[in-house]
Amino acid sequence: MIATAPFVDTVLMPPAELVQALKKRVGQLQMLPAVAKEALEIVKDPNCSIQEFTNVIKRDVKLGADILKMANSALYCPVTPIVDLNRCVMQIGFRECQYLILSASVASLMHRVNISQEWIRETLWRHSFTTALLATRINRTFRLGFQGEEFTAGLLHDFGRILFALVVPELFLKFDPLNFEESPELLDRELEATGTDHCHLAAWFTQGNQIPQPIPSVILNHHQPELAEQHQRLTALISVADQLANDWERLGERMMEDFVSPSALSLLVNLEDGGQFEATFAEAVPSLLNDARRDAQEMMSAK
Ligand SMILES: [Fe+2]
Ligand SMILES: [Fe+2]
Repeated sequence: MIATAPFVDTVLMPPAELVQALKKRVGQLQMLPAVAKEALEIVKDPNCSIQEFTNVIKRDVKLGADILKMANSALYCPVTPIVDLNRCVMQIGFRECQYLILSASVASLMHRVNISQEWIRETLWRHSFTTALLATRINRTFRLGFQGEEFTAGLLHDFGRILFALVVPELFLKFDPLNFEESPELLDRELEATGTDHCHLAAWFTQGNQIPQPIPSVILNHHQPELAEQHQRLTALISVADQLANDWERLGERMMEDFVSPSALSLLVNLEDGGQFEATFAEAVPSLLNDARRDAQEMMSAK
């Protein structure tokens, strides 16, 4: 089940001016449709049946269609198409379906987000999808045990940058040139320009929009997984995928020359095996990245 423990109270409230601007620009931007919230609520009951769960989702035709679209996408690649929600739950599993609801809702939201410069939306959205799919592929390849939360967390990890692009469009590119350098300096520039950074802003915003844990916690700490007090392995996985996705955008194939493992890898797996895992991981990276980028493009363009 998706954890619903109270959120860590280390999230900073954004400055009042930014909150006002957010209300004005995105106040009506519901991250989750009402039916999605209801479905996520009823699965908290351990006795909830598949039928009860899908009956709720079926009340929102668009949500049901979005979930099926994602279940049939490169994310799961079912051998035969999944054509109804009951089969979707049976095939994918209850737990993964909860994250499928979240991911389908967020993907649909991104199609509606109205950022004045389309390339900014495209760049951030492609980075989000690539990170999400890469996290999923790393999880499956190395059997890390996550069950869909890694995809949702990857999709939302930089949602704060999308919010900044929406709310302070005139400042955005001055502090975030979209150069795939998510360094501490980026967070410093965001803080100086707006009074917060994209990690705190999105953690606060997603929490207020009933996006359940572990997602807000991962968003908050994705630049410093070593500080995460909760969900540290998931945070580390997103940090690893994020760093690889950024390196690939900046360097392409050159990133594999003198490849250095992402710093968060040691929080994800035990590396004290004489470098064996790191060597296997480095070997897998190019094809994992190529696949993630190709699938990201396909999922973004799917109508
Ligand atoms: Fe980030
Ligand atoms: Fe990122």
